[in-house]
Amino acid sequence: MPVSVKVVGKFAMARDVVALRLAPQDSTQKLEAFPAGSHLDLHLPNGIIRQYSLTQHNPQSAPAYYEVAVARDAKSRGGSTAVHDTLRVGSLLQVSAPRNLFALDPAHRQVLLLAGGIGVTPLYAMAQALVASGADVEMVFCARSVSRMAYLDELKQLLGPRLRLHADDEAGGPLDVAQLLAEHKWQGVYACGPAPMLDAIQAATASWPAGQVHMERFTASVDPDAVSEAFEVELSASGLSAEVQAHESILDVIERLGVAHPYACREGLCGTCECKVLSGAIDHRCSVLTQAEKDTQSSMMLCVSRSAGGKLVLEL
Ligand code: FES
Repeated sequence: MPVSVKVVGKFAMARDVVALRLAPQDSTQKLEAFPAGSHLDLHLPNGIIRQYSLTQHNPQSAPAYYEVAVARDAKSRGGSTAVHDTLRVGSLLQVSAPRNLFALDPAHRQVLLLAGGIGVTPLYAMAQALVASGADVEMVFCARSVSRMAYLDELKQLLGPRLRLHADDEAGGPLDVAQLLAEHKWQGVYACGPAPMLDAIQAATASWPAGQVHMERFTASVDPDAVSEAFEVELSASGLSAEVQAHESILDVIERLGVAHPYACREGLCGTCECKVLSGAIDHRCSVLTQAEKDTQSSMMLCVSRSAGGKLVLEL
């Protein structure tokens, strides 16, 4: 259920980065507790929905406010522009309950956090959680310049010498992640940042055991070689079926059929449109499910994933 909140704080955190504090409009209403790595859907005044990571680790008690930080995106399609230019202290909006698609594995006691730019936001929350649990944690924070590093003072205070900075303008280019990852064997690596950085991590850790590397993307990873073909989809609960053409998504088709199903990003990033699959082979194209989850072939994101051949039967 969406919660009605009010902007009770808006702060400049770094160059082109602002933080928002969002408290319930109804002061008797309690916000939900949430673990590190969680995010919120913000229903912005321009009608679009965007996902932003919570920068806090608050698993036990109801927080007084949710805090997110948002970088201005030069290629904004409305989300970061609305946050930077429209929302003010006192603005009213709706947010979802926190959801966590980027959870820490409690078995990981030696952890590397690898942040790129505004990708620091969930990792700052994870750093708080790991320090509180006594884990051995190190963070490498990369950005185009130090002036763009949000929560830098807080991270220095929290991590001390376990925080390493890499500013591209001072270092003469981006971090060599393959070299970094070859330095030491961490039990868990958690990374969030721009696609080139995450693609480099993915390539450098391709042979690592499953579950050791966790990444959260804020732009969809698109396979340039993926070919889309038409297929049939059947909705078991409503008894409807339809053809999904090559140019459209299952979500487009079920909306056309008048079947309501939740969604937010429509890019395979947020997990909102996940649906159980009763039969059929899935061609997963989302950035949400892990490879192990994809391999179970039991659910899919209706906004981007497709049939790998033949009919899909959905629990819908
Ligand atoms: S709507 Fe976000 S993953 Fe489908």
